[in-house]
Amino acid sequence: MYICICKGITEDKIRSAIKHSHSPNTKDILKKLGVGTDCGTCLLHSIDAIIAEIKSKNKSDKTSSFKV
Ligand code: FES
Repeated sequence: MYICICKGITEDKIRSAIKHSHSPNTKDILKKLGVGTDCGTCLLHSIDAIIAEIKSKNKSDKTSSFKV
Protein backbone atom coordinates (compact mmCIF):
# COMPACT_ATOMS: atom_id res chain seq x y z
CA MET A 1 0.00 0.00 0.00
CA TYR A 2 1.26 3.45 -0.89
CA ILE A 3 1.77 5.69 2.11
CA CYS A 4 3.28 8.68 0.35
CA ILE A 5 1.85 9.05 -3.15
CA CYS A 6 3.98 12.09 -3.99
CA LYS A 7 7.23 10.23 -3.41
CA GLY A 8 5.97 6.75 -4.33
CA ILE A 9 6.79 5.35 -0.90
CA THR A 10 5.02 2.16 0.13
CA GLU A 11 4.38 0.81 3.60
CA ASP A 12 6.78 -2.07 2.86
CA LYS A 13 9.51 0.37 1.82
CA ILE A 14 9.14 2.28 5.09
CA ARG A 15 9.21 -0.92 7.15
CA SER A 16 12.31 -2.10 5.28
CA ALA A 17 14.05 1.25 5.77
CA ILE A 18 13.28 1.15 9.50
CA LYS A 19 14.50 -2.43 9.75
CA HIS A 20 17.79 -1.74 7.94
CA SER A 21 18.52 1.72 9.32
CA HIS A 22 21.17 2.40 11.92
CA SER A 23 19.15 5.38 13.15
CA PRO A 24 16.94 4.75 16.17
CA ASN A 25 14.70 7.67 15.21
CA THR A 26 11.82 6.73 12.92
CA LYS A 27 11.11 10.36 12.04
CA ASP A 28 14.66 10.74 10.70
CA ILE A 29 14.23 7.62 8.60
CA LEU A 30 10.98 8.94 7.11
CA LYS A 31 12.67 12.27 6.40
CA LYS A 32 15.54 10.52 4.57
CA LEU A 33 12.99 8.69 2.41
CA GLY A 34 11.36 12.03 1.58
CA VAL A 35 8.04 11.04 3.10
CA GLY A 36 5.89 14.11 3.67
CA THR A 37 8.21 16.53 1.90
CA ASP A 38 5.72 17.47 -0.81
CA CYS A 39 2.00 17.87 -0.08
CA GLY A 40 2.22 16.48 3.47
CA THR A 41 -1.04 14.55 3.26
CA CYS A 42 0.69 11.32 4.20
CA LEU A 43 1.92 12.85 7.43
CA LEU A 44 -1.63 13.71 8.44
CA HIS A 45 -3.06 10.25 7.89
CA SER A 46 -1.10 7.11 7.14
CA ILE A 47 2.16 7.91 8.89
CA ASP A 48 0.41 8.31 12.23
CA ALA A 49 -0.92 4.77 11.93
CA ILE A 50 2.52 3.36 11.13
CA ILE A 51 4.18 5.24 13.97
CA ALA A 52 1.50 4.01 16.38
CA GLU A 53 2.11 0.46 15.19
CA ILE A 54 5.87 0.82 15.65
CA LYS A 55 5.39 2.24 19.15
CA SER A 56 3.12 -0.66 20.00
CA LYS A 57 5.68 -3.12 18.66
CA ASN A 58 8.48 -1.44 20.62
CA LYS A 59 6.54 -1.83 23.85
CA SER A 60 6.27 -5.56 23.26
CA ASP A 61 9.86 -5.90 22.02
CA LYS A 62 12.12 -4.94 24.90
CA THR A 63 15.25 -5.47 22.78
CA SER A 64 14.25 -2.84 20.21
CA SER A 65 16.05 0.50 20.25
CA PHE A 66 13.78 2.36 17.82
CA LYS A 67 12.44 5.66 19.04
CA VAL A 68 9.43 7.32 17.48
S1 FES B 1 1.56 12.05 -0.07
FE1 FES B 1 3.44 12.25 1.02
S2 FES B 1 4.14 14.23 0.52
FE2 FES B 1 2.33 14.03 -0.63
